[in-house]
Amino acid sequence: MSERIYSRIAGTGSYLPEKVLTNDDLAQFVDTSDEWITARTGIRERHVAAEGETTCDLAYQAAIRAMEAAGVTGADLDLIVVGTTTPDLIFPSTACLLQARLGASGCGAFDVNAACSGFIYALTVADQFIRAGTVRTVLVVGSETLTRMLDWGDRSTCVLFGDGAGAVVLKADRETGILSTHLHADGAKKELLWNPVGVSAGFKPGEKNAGVRVLMTGNEVFKHAVKALDSVVEETLEANGLDRHDIDWLIPHQANLRIIEATAKRLDMPMDRVVVTVDRHGNTSSGSVPLALDEAIRSGRVQRGQLLLLEAFGGGFTWGAVLLRY
Ligand code: COA
Repeated sequence: MSERIYSRIAGTGSYLPEKVLTNDDLAQFVDTSDEWITARTGIRERHVAAEGETTCDLAYQAAIRAMEAAGVTGADLDLIVVGTTTPDLIFPSTACLLQARLGASGCGAFDVNAACSGFIYALTVADQFIRAGTVRTVLVVGSETLTRMLDWGDRSTCVLFGDGAGAVVLKADRETGILSTHLHADGAKKELLWNPVGVSAGFKPGEKNAGVRVLMTGNEVFKHAVKALDSVVEETLEANGLDRHDIDWLIPHQANLRIIEATAKRLDMPMDRVVVTVDRHGNTSSGSVPLALDEAIRSGRVQRGQLLLLEAFGGGFTWGAVLLRY
């Protein structure tokens, strides 16, 4: 029997645009308050991409940091997978644009769109390639400029999101790495969280409502997110024969502190074992999990050998989890 191949995280990186928008800044132009946003979401501020700064620009900065940490160059990459729902262009993919900038010519490159679960989906896809033995070194990125598709007059959505990117370099390893991945979706609930602008469906340029942006029924999304994350966390523990107390760190999607706390409670996990960035980053969609992971690794909190549970929930609906030994 051949030995199992794991995808090990060889390096991580992240990037946040310079400009910071606080809750008080938002309250200058939309009917909201720092008190409301903090109490309902835990968000205090978020980063916003500069004019002309794109999803690929953010991805590039995160990628070079991850590659430096992993000690690899563009020429070493066998595959690039970018999780994003705010690509620079309809095509080519952001992964192709990134590949050119990294000097990684020739390797496969594509985007994965699973809204806020984009990084979990991208990591899963990359892991499957490595486990199949077809590639050895993969760059996985979650990068978003979500603020570009917000209606800044809609207080129920514009206060929630921010821009940012995170990246990991995965390497094939005989010892340890990603232990299991779990993906789910429920397309029937699409209208609870979506941006109904499209190419072959949705409103067309010039049509009434063509300028429509992210639309969300927040309280419904909240309930579905808590339930779905509870269930995928349970599924992950069961698949690995683990007790909830075995997990060293929960690295959740950063949408809302109350959603994060609900998952932590389910795991009976004290909040000092949960990586929280939502207060400073807001919801950076696909960027949120790799940003949180990189921050926790660079600050020395997450150590080699520890067991990490990554999870996310997003539009689609999509949700998923990745369990890994770092
Ligand atoms: N500032 C002030 N008031 C606001 C507001 C804001 N930014 N946004 C909404 N409100 C108001 C609403 O208009 C409503 O007022 P009303 O009672 O007079 O009608 C009131 O606050 C309650 O709205 P509701 O939507 O029920 O609040 P909530 O407690 O569910 O909190 C969210 C709203 C969006 C923070 C919360 O539902 C949430 O976080 N949901 C999940 C969203 C999410 O994470 N999406 C991304 C998933 S990847």
